[in-house]
Amino acid sequence: MSAHPTSNTQHPTLVSGIQPTGRLHIGNYLGALKNFVDLQNSGKYECYFFIADLHSLTEEFDPKEKPKQILELTADYIALGLNPSASLGASPKKSTIFLQSLIPAHSELAWILNTLTPMGELSRMTQFRDKAGILNEEEISKPEKWDKERELLPKTHQVVQSQMKAVQKIHTYWANVGLFDYPVLMAADILLYGAQFVPVGNDQDQHLELTRTLARKFNAKFPARRSPGEGGGKTFMEPKPLHTETPRVMSLKNPGNKMSKSDPASCLFLDDSPTEIQAKIKTAVTDSGSEIKYDPKNKAAVSNLLKIYSSLADKPIEKLEKEFSGKTYSEFKTELAEVIANHFADYRTKKKTLLAKPHTIAAILKSGSQKAGTKAEKKISEVKKKIGITI
Ligand code: TYM
Repeated sequence: MSAHPTSNTQHPTLVSGIQPTGRLHIGNYLGALKNFVDLQNSGKYECYFFIADLHSLTEEFDPKEKPKQILELTADYIALGLNPSASLGASPKKSTIFLQSLIPAHSELAWILNTLTPMGELSRMTQFRDKAGILNEEEISKPEKWDKERELLPKTHQVVQSQMKAVQKIHTYWANVGLFDYPVLMAADILLYGAQFVPVGNDQDQHLELTRTLARKFNAKFPARRSPGEGGGKTFMEPKPLHTETPRVMSLKNPGNKMSKSDPASCLFLDDSPTEIQAKIKTAVTDSGSEIKYDPKNKAAVSNLLKIYSSLADKPIEKLEKEFSGKTYSEFKTELAEVIANHFADYRTKKKTLLAKPHTIAAILKSGSQKAGTKAEKKISEVKKKIGITI
């Protein structure tokens, strides 16, 4: 990995964010947030974690709800173990927590990076295609992919296919530009801070790849020092994703799909009550057979539950397989539900306490944003000088 040319910190920097769009699920936790806390506590990194409010505008939202969602997510971060005191002076084992929209440099850099990004690259992004409801040619020929449109269309295969293509065009037409451009803003979020590492679930890997491509492109296109004192060499680091053992937690209802808030019934939310957790785990799908065995190919549902258990209880899967050898799915599920409920008991209480003081949470965000903003300002000035928009 190339060294960061302008970094003067002793610790490598890491950056990640989450959209304030509602309740966090166990996929967000096991794929990202748990790792945020572990990485912070390792003391090895300068950590920046933010509330990706600008990203969250790409989905339908109610402006009245947004402030609450921002404060709730900040409370989630802290209740789960992020320590925001770094906002008052950098030190390891602490993180800077900030609000994306309070730092204009994110939007400014995104615009500049837009001018280096081919539309073709963005239109192949899986997350954009999923969210906009766009299928590729191969998917159009698969009836199981037609979902709701199928019921609306005539039944003959050929007619449906050609009509599906028309529906796709409509989906593409109406998808908002923000959804399309989302990965470029994400690249800006990361590159502004000289992040070497980005802890995320593996659904973000394509975006990270684009971030690296844009960093390389910018560095190659604008390499030279324009005049003495302006800082030459590479402007951006090429960041790498950091994954947990559970980079893709699967749906409780359909273990072939990723757990996603777009299907709330498939999610375990972190603030679900113990009774809700019991009920959801009880009705989670299981596989044929009765063995509690990790076999993602043939026993996807149980393997997903075993992974959740193993990560929360910090026990190797092989140990769990032994412990549950000869036991029923029902016994396994009862214990798993208890493990989940206990794991988040402290979090549920802390979150409530924090939310009782919304002004304190807002002050934490503001002070973190000031600190992050200073770093981001330096980088955007460097960028502007490099591309010559300075007088
Ligand atoms: P968001 O808010 O959709 O998701 C937050 C984090 O949760 C991870 N995640 C999962 N991990 C494992 N299994 C799942 N089922 C699962 N579902 C979600 C996501 O991978 C993510 O890490 N684009 C980002 C937000 C963002 C960002 C950034 C992240 C904006 N700018 C810069 C890092 C760096 C996102 O989709 O978050």
